[in-house]
Amino acid sequence: PKRVAILISGRGSNMKALIEQARGYEVVLVASNKVHAPGLDTARALGVPTFAFEAKRDEFEAALERSLADHKIGTIALAGYMRILSAAFIGRWRGRILNIHPSLLPRHKGLDTHNRVLAAGETVSGCTVHLVSEELDSGDVIAQTEVPVESGDDASRLAARVLEAEHYLYPKALSEFVRR
Ligand code: GAR
Repeated sequence: PKRVAILISGRGSNMKALIEQARGYEVVLVASNKVHAPGLDTARALGVPTFAFEAKRDEFEAALERSLADHKIGTIALAGYMRILSAAFIGRWRGRILNIHPSLLPRHKGLDTHNRVLAAGETVSGCTVHLVSEELDSGDVIAQTEVPVESGDDASRLAARVLEAEHYLYPKALSEFVRR
């Protein structure tokens, strides 16, 4: 199986789905730029080694690079990693970093996607797995799932429905990606 590292900043529900539904890849490291990210406890409970370090971005990325090398990582999956990676880092890992984003890219790049979908009166939202490039949320799309917006939705209800689709889409997309 291909050796994958997951980067998180918070809850880590996509990380958990990626670990539990791994096929054709193995999650051998979970790394976080937040030492108190709740997902770190989940990773440890699932027996996955963790790396957590709070520092300026360049310092964090330098330490992360060493950890990725130590663990012989081939592919990085961002899962609620909320800090923009440097262009230098992305350049070194070109074509080998995936991200999941809670909208149908190229619609609604950036933050606060669900409120923006609702404010625009859209009836369909969804989630996207894409390659990470230097421009935010703009790399090649690997896979998408549509999710209906329902009447009476607020951002949190819509987020929960999209998140469920993310947990199904991301492991499937990563499995297909490492097999390509
Ligand atoms: C997910 O909905 C993910 O798509 C989104 O944050 C949430 C993380 O949840 N990511 C972004 O907004 C990236 N800019 P999780 O920590 O439970 O996986």
